[in-house]
Amino acid sequence: AELAARFPLTSNPAPASDADVDTVMGSLSFGVAFTDHMVRARWTPARGWHEHRTESFGPLTLSPAAAVLHYGQEIFEGLKAYRHADGSVWTFRPGFNAARFNASARRLAMPELPEEDFVASLAALTAVDARWVPSVPGSSLYLRPFMIATEPFLGVRSAHELEYLLIASPVGPYFTHGFQPVSIWVAQDYHRVGPGGMGAAKTGGNYAASLLPQQEAYDKGFEQVCFLDAATGTHLEELGGMNVFVVDADGTVRTPALTGTILEGGTRAAILQLLRDAGRTVREETIELATLLEEIRSGEVAETFACGTAAVITPIGRLAGEGFDVTVADGRPGAVTTELYTTLTDIQYGRREDPHSWMYRL
Ligand code: COI
Repeated sequence: AELAARFPLTSNPAPASDADVDTVMGSLSFGVAFTDHMVRARWTPARGWHEHRTESFGPLTLSPAAAVLHYGQEIFEGLKAYRHADGSVWTFRPGFNAARFNASARRLAMPELPEEDFVASLAALTAVDARWVPSVPGSSLYLRPFMIATEPFLGVRSAHELEYLLIASPVGPYFTHGFQPVSIWVAQDYHRVGPGGMGAAKTGGNYAASLLPQQEAYDKGFEQVCFLDAATGTHLEELGGMNVFVVDADGTVRTPALTGTILEGGTRAAILQLLRDAGRTVREETIELATLLEEIRSGEVAETFACGTAAVITPIGRLAGEGFDVTVADGRPGAVTTELYTTLTDIQYGRREDPHSWMYRL
């Protein structure tokens, strides 16, 4: 409550009726419904961060010349608030997301937000909009912090006026069918980012770059697109908004190494830790597409999965691209993937011990 007071309530909306909230909770999809409030703060060089407040969720007043609309100076984060059986509300490793937010801010020449303010904003919004944290199994309140360049200026330089905002959306599974294998199209003509680019930052531009390849994958009948590195076009980087893992038949688990062109996922980091806890061999390394296809065909690779805050852990059943189309094992969720999903979600929903103190009570 002390933290939440950093973003005092300045306006109260006509709140959604309880019946409206019940309707939203009854059919949760991803990112379509929003809570009653949002959190904001402004930044200028002279004043630093100021005007911290919590107000009604609603349209922004923005100059059409605001730099974000022209040059995409924007960063964001994604976290979830989970309701535990006793009614309490928790989030997962907010310090990780706060630190990554600031790493993204540095890459886009934006001011950093004190980590305590980042966490305080989560506390403020979940306190005032507590009734929007779902209790339906597998659901959560998705928290979306972001920062935009609001200065009306068309010159190309980092803006002198910015805003931090936090909005929230009650969500069910990212993929509508839940814990079911997805099919992946490997993009060979498009890349998400290049060496020295913004790949390690969580910025809208990287997601904009994924939209056309994602659309083409979807039109071919695939659910997600996988990107290869731009320098050689030979190894796996990540999906449109998720990291990727490979499980060998001998139990070794591999994921592409962080080379500066991949976003370091919070779920990715947690999975690596859980696997190490379980005594498994884990390797962060280059994963060549050609080798991977051979290993899937020979059975040396037993499972593949995607992970992210939104997607949690999602099995990959099929991998295709120009000239290949392979099913991973029998195409069904593998044992390691399933066990990781259970362990991680049990920790997040307070159903098992949290050995690394990842959960933070809001
Ligand atoms: C996440 O929060 O997991 C994201 O990366 C954003 C998007 C895929 C919804």
